[in-house]
Amino acid sequence: MIKIALADAAATESLAADLVAILPDDLSGFLLLLQGELGAGKSTLARAMLQKMGVTGAIPSPTYTLVEPYEVSGGNVYHIDLYRLSGMEELDYLGWDDLRDGLILLEWPERVPQLSGEADLLLQLDYDGEGRMATLKGLSVRGTDMLSRYPG
Ligand SMILES: Nc1ncnc2c1ncn2[C@@H]1O[C@H](COP(=O)(O)OP(=O)(O)OP(=O)(O)O)[C@@H](O)[C@H]1O
Ligand SMILES: [Mg+2]
Repeated sequence: MIKIALADAAATESLAADLVAILPDDLSGFLLLLQGELGAGKSTLARAMLQKMGVTGAIPSPTYTLVEPYEVSGGNVYHIDLYRLSGMEELDYLGWDDLRDGLILLEWPERVPQLSGEADLLLQLDYDGEGRMATLKGLSVRGTDMLSRYPG
């Protein structure tokens, strides 16, 4: 487990860049859970990761579309927000199995508790004064391997 104090939004973006730098070469099926209260910075982090991976256009919030797909040089990336969802059935209806070919950046994993069993990495963001505290936890061999490459 790694804890990182994030004083401001720029620090969240810099953590996103550090994470992109240590992602596995093969992104397929890598599931990153972004957990934290409303406004904790989950979308800020996901957006910064996508930009760092080379996405240049607009990065809309998946709050209403639930899934926003991207193609980057390492493969497909899906930015997902489950805030409005309430269970695995709805996630299957969304075509969950088809999304497993890429890297998944997933907000509000609490909505589908079974997902923690499938996930590789958990990033928890908590309010901490004016800033945030990030907690990173490897949930699979791939996730733990990735964290072992974390600088600092
Ligand atoms: N480390 C930080 N310290 C202070 N403010 C931050 C930090 N990181 C991000 N922020 C700010 O907090 C807000 C986070 O909004 P964001 O949409 O990213 O949250 P979210 O967790 O995705 O919320 P939601 O649950 O509604 O999807 C933004 O205004 C962002 O600039
Ligand atoms: Mg969000």
